[in-house]
Amino acid sequence: MASSKSLAARVEALRRELHEHLYRYHVLSAPTISDLEYDALFKELQALEAEHPELRTPDSPTVRVGGTISEKFEKVRHPGPILSLSNCFDADDVRAWFERIRKLDPRVAEAAFVVEPKIDGLTVVLHYRDGVFVQGATRGDGEIGEDITPNLRTLRKLPLRLRGADEGSGKGRRRAAAAAPPPVLVVRGEAVIYTTDFERFNQAQIAKNGRTFANPRNTASGALRNLDTTLTAAVPISLLCYQVVAAEGLTPGTQWETLTYLRDFGFPVSDVARRFTALEDAITYCQSFADKRDSLPFEIDGMVIKLDDLRLQTDLGFVGKDPRGATAFKFPAREVTTQLVDVTVDVGRTGKITPTAVLEPVEVGGVTVRNATLHNFDYIRDNDIRLGDRVLLKRSGDVIPYVIGPVLEARTGGEKKIKPPKTCPSCGEPVQQAEGEVDVFCVNSACPAQLNRVVEYFGAVLDIEGFGEKIAHASVEQGKVRDVADVFTLSKEALLDLPGFADKKADKLLAAIQAAKTRPLGRLLAALGIRGIGFVAANDLAAHFGSFDALGAADAETLQQVDGIGPSASAAVVEWFAEKRNRAVLDKLRVAGVWPTAAPKVASTAAGPFTGQTFVITGTLPTLGRDEAKEYIEARGGKVTDSVSKKTSYLVLGESPGSKLAKAQSLGVTILDEAALRTLGG
Ligand code: IVH
Repeated sequence: MASSKSLAARVEALRRELHEHLYRYHVLSAPTISDLEYDALFKELQALEAEHPELRTPDSPTVRVGGTISEKFEKVRHPGPILSLSNCFDADDVRAWFERIRKLDPRVAEAAFVVEPKIDGLTVVLHYRDGVFVQGATRGDGEIGEDITPNLRTLRKLPLRLRGADEGSGKGRRRAAAAAPPPVLVVRGEAVIYTTDFERFNQAQIAKNGRTFANPRNTASGALRNLDTTLTAAVPISLLCYQVVAAEGLTPGTQWETLTYLRDFGFPVSDVARRFTALEDAITYCQSFADKRDSLPFEIDGMVIKLDDLRLQTDLGFVGKDPRGATAFKFPAREVTTQLVDVTVDVGRTGKITPTAVLEPVEVGGVTVRNATLHNFDYIRDNDIRLGDRVLLKRSGDVIPYVIGPVLEARTGGEKKIKPPKTCPSCGEPVQQAEGEVDVFCVNSACPAQLNRVVEYFGAVLDIEGFGEKIAHASVEQGKVRDVADVFTLSKEALLDLPGFADKKADKLLAAIQAAKTRPLGRLLAALGIRGIGFVAANDLAAHFGSFDALGAADAETLQQVDGIGPSASAAVVEWFAEKRNRAVLDKLRVAGVWPTAAPKVASTAAGPFTGQTFVITGTLPTLGRDEAKEYIEARGGKVTDSVSKKTSYLVLGESPGSKLAKAQSLGVTILDEAALRTLGG
C-alpha cells in the first residue's frame, strides 16, 4: 500500500492536472486530452477522495458533481456596489451618452472604448482567497446578494483555483509559471446556458420523460438557486467574466487589460470583445451584432460600450445604479408579453395534433405576431399555461414565435386550464398518445384534416403550380379528391366547381397537373409522405429499386441495404406498402399513367471541395432545384442527407425553411445560402 505521503501527493497531482485540463478546455478551447482520458483521471481522484476523505479540499474538481443540500441561502454583502447599466437603443442615443460625459470630463474626448456582448444571463459575484474560490453570490439588490457557493462550485467553467495560485500546501509546494493572483480577488461575471447546451439538455429531458425548460435564462437562474446542488450540476451552465469588483493589491487600469488579466487567471472571457479608439467604430461594431446575434453561442440582449480607462469610469460616478462610464446598446426585444386569447388545435399530415396560441397582436422584433406555437399539450401542462394568461412570447432569428410561459404575477384567477383534446377536432375519432411521447395523434387514416394536409403536401412536393393550400383543401372538402392519386384525374368540370375558378385558370392547372405526371420516381415517392422518407431517402430508394413494384416487394432487411435507410424508415416503408388504402392509391396511379421508373444509380465517386462533408438542404433555393442542388454537391464530392445530426457539416438554407433550421442552429451546424454554397464549391 502506498504511504500516506505519496497518496497525498498523487491526489494533489491529479487535482493540478485536472485543473489544467479544465482550463485548456473551457478557457482556451484547446484540450490536449480526450474526454475519456479526462474521465479516467477524474474517477481516480474521486476514488482516492472517497477512500481518504481527509484528503478532500473545497477546490477539488470533484465537487462539481454537487451533492450539497442547503436549508436556505445566506445573505452576502458585496464588497462594492454591483451596478447596472443605462440603455441606448440606437446610434444617436450612444452619441448623446458620449456628449453628456464629454461635457462632464474633458478626458472623455480622448478616451478609448471596449465593446463586449451584453450577455443575457445571471450576474454572479465570485470571491477568491489566495487564488482559491471561497464564495459566490447572486447580484440581489446590488448591495446584498445570496450565497450560492455550493451551486457555483458545480459550474465546469468556474475556476476553483486560479492559475498561478500556490499548489497544495506544505512540502512539495510549487508556484506555477503564471503571475500569482492577489490575496483577495472578487470578480463579476455572467452565468449563462449556451443555446446548443440548452437544446441538448431539453432533448435529454424529453428522452428521460423529464420536464422541458422554456428558456436558458430562467433555467440557469432556477438551477443556481436550487437547494440541492446535484440538480444544479445536472444543468449545463457556462460562465463569462468581465469585471474586477475588488482586489487586494494591484489590478489593471483599463477594461481591455482586465479581460486579459481575467483570462490569464483562468476565467472564461468573451472572445468577441474589441477595443476602439473612435466612438463611431465602436457603434458600427455594436450594430454589426444586431444581425449576427444568433451566431454567438449564447443569447445577448445587446452590446456594452465601456470607457477603457477604469479610473475615468470611476471618476465619472453614477446616476442611480447606472455608471456613467459605460452604457448598453440594446437590441430590439425578442421577448414581449401579450394576452393568450384562445388556443386552436391543428391536425397535421401525419395526424399530429398541435396547439397554436391565438394572441392579442403584438410587435416583436419589427413583426406583428398573432399566433405562436405552444409545441404540444405536455408543454402547456409543464409550463402551466392557461387561457386568458398574460404570456411571455419569444421570436428570435428564423425560429417560429413560441410562448415561453405565463406571467404569474399578472394572474387574476379567471384563467382557465387548457386540456388536451380527447377526440380529433376534424374527424371526431379518439386521439392517441403513445407511452413516452409528448405528441397526441389522430390515427384515423381517413381523417379529413389529415387528407387536406397530405394532398397539399403532395401538390407542393410535385411542384404543381396553382395547387396550393387553398385549392388542395377545397378539392378535398368538396369530395373531388379522396386520395392523392385523384389529383391526376381531376376533370375540368371538377375544377370549375372550385372557388375562384374560371376557364383559363382551370386549363392552366390542368396543364400543371399533366406536367407533374412525368416527375421522376424519387420525387413521386417523396410526395407520398411516408414517415421518415424525405427527398434524399426517396431518391436513394428510387435509384436502388427502380420501380414501385420492386420497392413494394422489398422487406425491411433489403431496404436497409440502402445507405441511410435505418430500421425505422424501413419499417415505415414496409408498413406503407402493406396498407390496403395505399395499394389502391398505387393502382390508381398506374392506371392514370403515373408510373415512373428510375435508371440504376451510378455510384458517385467524384472528389472535390466537398469531399468528406455532409449537407442537408431545407427550404427553396433561389436558383437550384432540390435535385440540382444535390447533384451540385455530389459532383464536388459531398454527401446529401435528409436530416440534421451531429454529423451534418452544412445546412443549405432556402426560403421558408422547415424545422431543420432550428435543429441545425441548436447543434451549431454552419448555415449556408445558395451563394455561399457556390463560393465554397468553387
Ligand atoms: S458591465 C459597471 N458587462 O447587464 C459595470 N454588464 O443591464 C456594469 N451584463 O447587471 C455592468 N454582460 O448583469 C457588463 N459584458 C457585460 C455584461 C453585463 C451582461 C449584464 C449585467 C448587468 C446588466 C445591466
